[in-house]
Amino acid sequence: MYFRFGFFDVIPLLYTKSHIRVNSCVVYYFVSNLNPILIVKFSGCYHGHADHLLVAAGSGLATFGTPSSAGVPEAFTACTRVLPLDDEAAVEELFTREGSKIAAVIIEPVPANHGLLLQRREFLQRLREVTRRHGALLIFDEVISGFRLARGGVAELVGIVPDLATFGKVIGGGMPVGGFGGSRQIMQRLAPLGDTYQAGTLSGNPVAMASGITTLDILIRESGWERLEQIGAQVERSLLPALRDAPFPIHFVRAGSLFWMSFHDAAAPRSAASMSPKAVERYGALFHAMLDRGVYLPPSAYEACFLSLAHTSADVEQLTRALRESLATIQ
Ligand SMILES: Cc1ncc(COP(=O)(O)O)c(C=O)c1O
Repeated sequence: MYFRFGFFDVIPLLYTKSHIRVNSCVVYYFVSNLNPILIVKFSGCYHGHADHLLVAAGSGLATFGTPSSAGVPEAFTACTRVLPLDDEAAVEELFTREGSKIAAVIIEPVPANHGLLLQRREFLQRLREVTRRHGALLIFDEVISGFRLARGGVAELVGIVPDLATFGKVIGGGMPVGGFGGSRQIMQRLAPLGDTYQAGTLSGNPVAMASGITTLDILIRESGWERLEQIGAQVERSLLPALRDAPFPIHFVRAGSLFWMSFHDAAAPRSAASMSPKAVERYGALFHAMLDRGVYLPPSAYEACFLSLAHTSADVEQLTRALRESLATIQ
């Protein structure tokens, strides 16, 4: 199936039934190409329930992967290297040491699974350069950001073309759909054209496809991406004064319709960093105070908030009012 969107020219998108399948499928592609293979991921980025990628978020310099889920054999995670985000030196160091074995680097270009860890364009550009220099593939996991932040995802926003991009969530309009795309040369390696098997009973099922296509049609017809940015900007303008008045530091981080209230004492981080126990406790108190006022925030200090086209100015006002009142109840 050929598909044209935003920044990418023509990308064969393979629709699979879940995002899990997308990322494991991508990984199997590499297994079939290199031996031994290493996959590089970043601490704080989540790529679904693919064995190679279920690796504990390490800190500091590159570490050997250790499984973060019971039941994942170490043989799988031994193929994974975990690096800190926002750290060009760590990337260069790992490639100098093991570059000939690295098949791919996978990253959420706007990491949204450990708060919202906005990356500098220079860092993403360096990944592009290093992977190209060493013959490794660069994968943008746009399962969250794809079709949410722009029609062509973060790749379009930052003007960096990955070798593969993976999609989920918005692409299915609420139904279980995942997709991934890349150059024709890479995609031809997949079954039925190529020798890397990929299939599933519900892959490309018509109900899910109809839901996804309708959602994308609406986003295009109703200037969805512009409106989502406007709603995000409105929330930012409205919440900032309330956050500034809070009795402890809260940093507002936003990318389009994604935002995060970071409770870190110092500035909002760009790489996975733990919050103090006090900050986590404060977020818990805020969560319950907001719930009492009819606003259901994500149930973790490390989860980002998602805005949608259904949110109205009245919702933004309610959110702001509830936040002001709630913050006044927290030490
Ligand atoms: C960036 C990213 N990649 C992959 C996945 C995996 O998607 P799923 O949970 O549908 O398998 C998620 C899930 O939240 C995600 O946020």
